[in-house]
Amino acid sequence: MDNVIAVYSATGNSLSLAKKIEGGSIYLIEKILDNSSPLPEKIGKLGIVFPVYCFGLPYPVLRFIRECLSKRDNSDIGYIYAIATYSKVPLTALADLETELTGIGCALSYGASVKMPIAYVPFRKEAVGEIETLATLNKVQNKIGHIISDINEEKLEIPSRGIMRRMIRAMSREAAKPRESKLSVGAGCSGCGICARICPMDNIRLSDGKAAIGNECISCYACYHRCPENAISYPDAEGQYEGLVRTEELFKR
Ligand SMILES: Cc1cc2nc3c(=O)[nH]c(=O)nc-3n(C[C@H](O)[C@H](O)[C@H](O)COP(=O)(O)O)c2cc1C
Ligand code: SF4
Ligand code: SF4
Repeated sequence: MDNVIAVYSATGNSLSLAKKIEGGSIYLIEKILDNSSPLPEKIGKLGIVFPVYCFGLPYPVLRFIRECLSKRDNSDIGYIYAIATYSKVPLTALADLETELTGIGCALSYGASVKMPIAYVPFRKEAVGEIETLATLNKVQNKIGHIISDINEEKLEIPSRGIMRRMIRAMSREAAKPRESKLSVGAGCSGCGICARICPMDNIRLSDGKAAIGNECISCYACYHRCPENAISYPDAEGQYEGLVRTEELFKR
């Protein structure tokens, strides 16, 4: 029996948390989905670590549940836990995950959310200083310590579903859908291809030595933050988030 930590992380916050959990192997959800890193045959404990998107689940996490977990016999899995990372308000994201898992016959045993330094570009206009980031990281360290001991003890803590859950879920699904991007690639692009390797949607191609962003964007901002030339821009935004893991650790291909 293997213990698996399935992680979706665009800008590195969720991956940095997953790396702190001992006793499990990390699998990037995109690599599970494209079969380049399939799940082991028998799983003892399954962790799902992901960022909150629009109060709900990111598109790749939804696909992981509906297209991957739903297709296996999950009777081997004894304990499923989830950790959601967020910037401001997680709202119903864990309840959303619980509903999705219930829908495929799995039970979420434990869920927790952790506030992380702000990577979300539209929120970064509020200028996050180094001091605030460090204060957030101290709280993260404290909280993840408690979460890890809960998981080791296989504690049961199921997220409350909340009365507005259905309405929020529908709005969140619509908002988190892949669509045309507001990002643009400037003349500084060197054609290094990092953005294409990091994009969770495989939505960036190199054409004539320059990056070209397609119409299946989920606005995760991985490409924006990790471009070494700072050549990807978003209206009125400036400043890249250095992040908590190395760029190569976030490569999906
Ligand atoms: C498209 C998108 C939607 C988001 N929606 C929310 C949200 O509803 N509430 C919130 O608190 N944070 C929200 N965030 C912030 C992320 O949850 C947060 O930055 C997270 O730690 C990023 O994780 P990652 O670095 O592993 O990708 C959103 C970020 C993105 C990119
Ligand atoms: S990461 Fe930046 S420099 Fe490299 S291909 Fe993408 S846009 Fe161009
Ligand atoms: S194009 Fe950029 S912002 Fe859009 S999904 Fe890909 S990496 Fe994320």
